This record gives sequence, C-alpha cells and structure tokens, in this order.
Amino acid sequence: MHTRKIGPFEVSAIGLGCMNISMGYGDLPDETTAAKLLNAAIDAGYTFMDTAAMYGMGHSETMIGKHIMHRRSEFTLASKCGIFRNSENQVVTDGRPEIIVQTCEDSLRRLNTEVIDLYYLHRVDKNVPVEDSIGTLGRLAEQGKIRTVGMSEIASDTLRKAHATFPITAVQSEYSLWTRTPERKIIETCRELGIAFVPFSPLARQFLTGKCKDVTELTKNDIRCTNSRPRFEPENFSENIKLLGPYRAIAERCGCTMAQLALAWVLAQGEDMIPIPGTKNIEHMEENAGAGDIKLDKTTVNELDQLINDKTVKGDRYNEVLMNTIDSERD
Ligand SMILES: NC(=O)c1ccc[n+]([C@@H]2O[C@H](COP(=O)([O-])OP(=O)(O)OC[C@H]3O[C@@H](n4cnc5c(N)ncnc54)[C@H](OP(=O)(O)O)[C@@H]3O)[C@@H](O)[C@H]2O)c1
Repeated sequence: MHTRKIGPFEVSAIGLGCMNISMGYGDLPDETTAAKLLNAAIDAGYTFMDTAAMYGMGHSETMIGKHIMHRRSEFTLASKCGIFRNSENQVVTDGRPEIIVQTCEDSLRRLNTEVIDLYYLHRVDKNVPVEDSIGTLGRLAEQGKIRTVGMSEIASDTLRKAHATFPITAVQSEYSLWTRTPERKIIETCRELGIAFVPFSPLARQFLTGKCKDVTELTKNDIRCTNSRPRFEPENFSENIKLLGPYRAIAERCGCTMAQLALAWVLAQGEDMIPIPGTKNIEHMEENAGAGDIKLDKTTVNELDQLINDKTVKGDRYNEVLMNTIDSERD
C-alpha cells in the first residue's frame, strides 16, 4: 500500500478502524479472532491503527495493547479522549483537563505503551473552553505521553482557536460519498492550516459495500438500529438502496469491489486524506487494503459525485439529538 503523511508520521493510505472489534455493528468477535485480525492487518500493510478510550469502554485499546504492542514499531497509534458512556449507558462529553489527564493515563496503561502517537479530543465539550482541553493535550505532548494532538467532528472556528493554542496534526470526521459535510468548510480549513484529514465511516457504515441490510434485518446491538441514524430507517433505506445499482456498475467497470470504490473515491479527494474503514472480518480488511493503490480518473470521480451526494441520499446521518452534540455541524 502506498503511504501518506499525518504530521511527522508516514502511514498506510488506508488505516484500520479498531472500534468494530469492541462495539458498533452487531455481535463482537472473540479475543482470538480480534488478535488475528489486528496482526493480519499489519501483515497486509496497514500501519495506522485508530482506536479510542471510549470503544468498548477501553476494550479496543486493551486488545491493541495485548495483541500487537510487540509490533509497536510497525504502526502509528492513534487514540482519543473526551467522551464516555456513563453508568446509564448514555454518551457524555467531558473535556475537563483533569479528565483528559486521567483518560490518557488509562489509555497508556491499556495500550501497554509509553507514548500514543496521535491523541484526539474525540468531541469538544461545550462546557469547557477548547483552549483548556487542547492546552492540556499540549502539556501531555510536552511531557512525552503523546506525540501529537488531533480533534474529531470539529467546526472550523473551533479548530482555529485550538490550533492557536497547540498545533493540531489531524482532524477526524465522518466523510464519504454519502456524508459530504466536511466539504462545506473543514477540509479547506485543514488544508490552509496544514492539518491531515482522517475520514471515519468511509464505507458509509457498510452501505457503500452493497452488503448492508435493512435495519429490520440487523441485530439490536447494532448502532444502525437505534433510531439514531435516519438513513437506515426503512422509508429512507428503501430509497437509498436504489443508488447502489448504478454504483455497482461503476465498480464493475473499474474492476474493483464496491467497498474499494468507496475508499478510492475518498483517496481521490486529496493526498491529505487517510480513511480508516472499520471491520471485524479478515477478508473485508484485506479487500479494503486493496483499495490503497486504486487511482480513479476524473471522469469516474465526477460520475460518483453526481450519483451519490447530500442531495441524492435520503435522511440525515444522525438524528437531531446527536446532531446537536456535534461541533462540526456548525460549519
Ligand atoms: N471519531 C469518531 O467520532 C468516529 C465515529 C465512528 C467511527 N470512527 C472510527 O472510524 C472507523 C470506521 O468507521 P465505521 O466502522 O463506523 O464505518 P465504516 O468503516 O464506514 O463501515 C463499517 C461497516 O462496514 C462493514 N465493512 C467493512 N469493510 C467491508 C467490506 N469490505 N465489505 C463489506 N462490509 C464491510 C463492517 O462490517 P464487517 O465487520 O462485517 O466488515 C461494518 O459493518 C471506526 O472503526 C472507528 O475507528 C470514529
């Protein structure tokens, strides 16, 4: 796989989203399977691992710490702080300095490492000045506990304030053919400030692979079934699925799978894009790695742009409650 730059790091053009071994999309793999997947990903050329303190309440970090830390020099390690699930299983944002310091200590212990290469503020806490949260991450960098600082789902004006406090190395936000929000402003702001962009959910939460089922067929422990992602609700999904016929035809013409086409489109948006598809399946992981070297011509990119975009997709990416918690929606 060819490589791209995130600040001082040279990483595989496609990183591995490690949330999925610990939460998100239905039943979870057992520990042996998760360990095999993580090692096979490094063998397949992935050198950028994305996790977070929140994923499975530390489970994803623990799997990485236990099963690939002996290969520490082979990959760049990214994790995140600043959101949790409370005892009532609700998602809570907390960007207070003392919480960030404690979370970092916990991440380091679970990850079984001395230093995290890229540590993101997972969400901005509206009750804490962003300068305080980012200033704390900056001090952790100065102390050598993390190497660089990132932010996730952030609006441009917040990013500018944060970047003036401590240099931000990467911004991570949802970005794919069907979620174009970052095109409004944040990608441009990142380019102006020299910040790498890490698209999450680049497969549209499986929709663009053509293997996604209607919510009525998914299991209850799947985030797409929680009434929080309107695009997967039957009335929208039945419309959205119509986009996949012509999309499949483009993939066939390009000689790649639908998943690979989705990733190749993200890569075609610029050298600063490092998508992190998530999977708990070794074959899918290998298939996604295969997209790392696909180059789409301009005509194909334009054709995809016309076919699947904010206007042709039915339903919002999140429900109103979730939308209101996300800083990036203000852009
Ligand atoms: N910063 C944030 O707030 C944030 C939010 C969400 C996610 N993330 C990060 O981004 C990563 C990716 O996002 P995501 O997992 O939400 O969405 P995604 O990568 O767009 O899609 C994941 C879904 O696609 C399926 N899949 C993956 N490769 C496939 C293939 N080749 N063929 C068929 N199905 C395939 C997976 O199922 P299988 O397991 O069966 O392959 C899973 O259901 C996460 O792991 C996490 O690290 C960050």
